[in-house]
Formats: sequence, structure tokens, C-alpha cells
Amino acid sequence: MAELKVSAIREGTVIDHISAGKGLKVIEILGLGRLNGGAVLLAMNVPSKKLGRKDIVKVEGRFLSEEEVNKIALIAPSATVNIIRDYKVVEKFKVEVPDVIEGILRCANPNCITNHEYVTTKFYVINKEPLKVRCYYCERTMEEDEILANL
Ligand code: CTP
Ligand code: ZN
Repeated sequence: MAELKVSAIREGTVIDHISAGKGLKVIEILGLGRLNGGAVLLAMNVPSKKLGRKDIVKVEGRFLSEEEVNKIALIAPSATVNIIRDYKVVEKFKVEVPDVIEGILRCANPNCITNHEYVTTKFYVINKEPLKVRCYYCERTMEEDEILANL
């Protein structure tokens, strides 16, 4: 198969091994693609040995916070984050779905206390792939679609 060349970046972050179809959601969650940001490259349906097909997101001039990495793990648990400086990969790590998710997800239950008072949300992860979580406060469970809609 012909290899697809996507330009290398000088300084920034490459999020690789994103399950095919989830790249746009990663861009959305990071608030990229706004007018004042740096260049963002999205490659979709790239052939991959491990995943069959994958998406790749490259962000020039931007590094991720821990919270952003945690959000990416919920969207794309197979993703690898590469930190690039002076064109070289200086750090590489796999994202990890935590056992407990605090603060980054809203509860889908409109009656949940976390939707009415200033309480930090908290969910127990009951299954990692496919992702399924349970709200600590109201015990509502949420699966992948609802989780993506409430990030
Ligand atoms: N990359 C980039 N710009 C650079 C260096 C690397 O966009 N200046 C990208 C590569 O295209 C690749 C990712 O960062 O998508 C990781 O680079 P590298 O570790 O060199 O690639 P692989 O060995 O294929 O990574 P892995 O083993 O994680 O699949
Ligand atoms: Zn709840």
C-alpha cells in the first residue's frame, strides 16, 4: 500500500493511534480549529498495523494538560501522545482510562445533584472497552455515546 505522507511538525503534540472516526471529536474536545490557534492536521482512516485504520491529530505549538489527556483517553483509549520539540519525538506515552473519573464529565441524569449544585462530578469506571461508567452520586450508568455527548 502506498504510504501517506502527513507533514512532520516542529514543536507541539501528535495524538496517534486514535480509533478511526474519533479524530474530529478529539479536535473538538481540545477546542482546536479556532481562529487564533496554531496549525492543526487531521489524518483520517490511515492504515495501521495495530488498529486496521486510525486517525492522527497533529497540533503545532500546543501541549496538553493532564485534564485534556484524560478526556482523550475517554474518546480514544488506544491513543498515543507524542511530544515534539525541534522535529523530534522527545516523549511518548499511551493515554490511560482511569478507574475513577473526576470533574471532566457531566452526569446525563438531569436530576443528579451534580447538575444542580457545585459538586465535582465523580464516576466509577465499570468497563474500559467499551467504556461504561457509573455516577457516584445518582448511580446512573453511561455508555460510550452518552459519555461523548457529556464531555
Ligand atoms: N511526528 C510528527 N512530526 C515530527 C515527528 C513525529 O508529526 N517532527 C509524528 C509521526 O508522523 C508519528 C508520530 O509523530 O505519527 C510518532 O512518531 P514516531 O515515534 O517517529 O513514529 P512511530 O515509531 O511510527 O510511532 P509508534 O511506534 O508510536 O507507532
Ligand atoms: Zn449523577
